[in-house]
Amino acid sequence: MAVTVRIPAPLRPSVGGASSIECAPGTVRDLIDQLEAQHAGFRDRVMEDGALRRFVNVFVAGQDVRFDEGVDTEVTDGQEVTFCPLSPGADPPAAALVAGGSGMVGRVLIAGLVAGGTQVVALARSPRAIEAVRTAGARPIPTDLLGLHTWAAELSGIEVVYHLAQPRLGPPLRRLGVRRRARDAAAGTAALLGAMPRPVPVVVGSSALVYGDRTAAPAAEDAPLAPHGPGVPAAAAEAAAAGRDARFVRLPWIYGNEGLARDLIVGLRTRRYRIVGPGDNRWGLIGAEDAARALRTAATAPPGPYNAIEAAPTQREVIDALCAAPGLRRPDHAPPALAGIGLGGALSHALAASVWVSDDRLRSLGWSPRQTWRSELLALTEVDLPRAT
Ligand SMILES: NC(=O)c1ccc[n+]([C@@H]2O[C@H](COP(=O)([O-])OP(=O)(O)OC[C@H]3O[C@@H](n4cnc5c(N)ncnc54)[C@H](OP(=O)(O)O)[C@@H]3O)[C@@H](O)[C@H]2O)c1
Repeated sequence: MAVTVRIPAPLRPSVGGASSIECAPGTVRDLIDQLEAQHAGFRDRVMEDGALRRFVNVFVAGQDVRFDEGVDTEVTDGQEVTFCPLSPGADPPAAALVAGGSGMVGRVLIAGLVAGGTQVVALARSPRAIEAVRTAGARPIPTDLLGLHTWAAELSGIEVVYHLAQPRLGPPLRRLGVRRRARDAAAGTAALLGAMPRPVPVVVGSSALVYGDRTAAPAAEDAPLAPHGPGVPAAAAEAAAAGRDARFVRLPWIYGNEGLARDLIVGLRTRRYRIVGPGDNRWGLIGAEDAARALRTAATAPPGPYNAIEAAPTQREVIDALCAAPGLRRPDHAPPALAGIGLGGALSHALAASVWVSDDRLRSLGWSPRQTWRSELLALTEVDLPRAT
């Protein structure tokens, strides 16, 4: 057996245009020596002063070697190695498909792709969704995931698929509803991938709740999965895409001008929201724009899981900040079972859980958050949402 070295498009000119090359096992440095012997000049493209260049990442079996032994990392028989120039050097895809483009993150993602020169087509299953994706800059395909296979002609030039079309998870979210949404997520993901005329890289918008309740430490990308609540449909979507050329971007609670952040502010104003449990659990947060950039960064990275998070304040810290600015009274606490009467048991337990990840992998690819929840979530409290009567 041998080691397969994958060469992404920007580096192919330095190896005669090859997209993959077989090498003998050894350290990453040995592989670079073998490639240099076949294609003089390759070493200088990826190394400088005996170390990897700052803007080149190397993944061995999906793991960034910077978190291992660097160029001295061993590569064994049958493993796959990818040399990956950081995303600033990667060409944007000419054409992308966005499923879920009418959602909170999807619209921002479409706008960012279009601004970078990518032509975007987006699934849109209602007149409202058609309008939303058109406004963001995409050409709508008027179907849901299950009907996409009848639109093959629209899909022939697609180079990347972004899959954010997960079932909505707003309150009330009960355990039975989670199971139904997990079945829908798996079937929808399989239908999406099955409709593509040829295999292309896929980026799946997933949830940090696939790691379960992380009380002691944040979950790194390869931590074992223990999905609960909204993490169950996300894990089902991941499983349906397993073995494909897929990146799973696991996101914590996303704030933007709709979805759960909006529901929370309305709940505080109308005095319906209670702190679920003691309130010392971590609510990992990320803004919709940072989430969209994380998805775009993952598209040029090797297949595998990626986490993205801005901050992990406690539930109480978030509620205190949201109440302090507009002078709202801080809500009482409710045990998850009681809060579950209105929110649904699956959502109330998720809100009482610690959603906490570390995101070294995406940061090593040049992604880092630019939004700050304290100012942007607080700004949301000033918009015209329902008030207490
Ligand atoms: N929001 C969060 O706090 C959060 C947290 C962690 C992870 N995530 C993940 O991040 C991604 C983006 O989240 P988001 O909050 O932007 O989502 P969102 O606002 O709930 O939007 C979901 C999108 O998926 C579409 N969709 C759902 N089922 C579909 C189907 N069967 N066929 C076609 N379209 C379908 C919806 O279309 P319609 O407009 O027609 O309904 C909508 O465009 C998702 O993958 C989500 O799982 C979100």
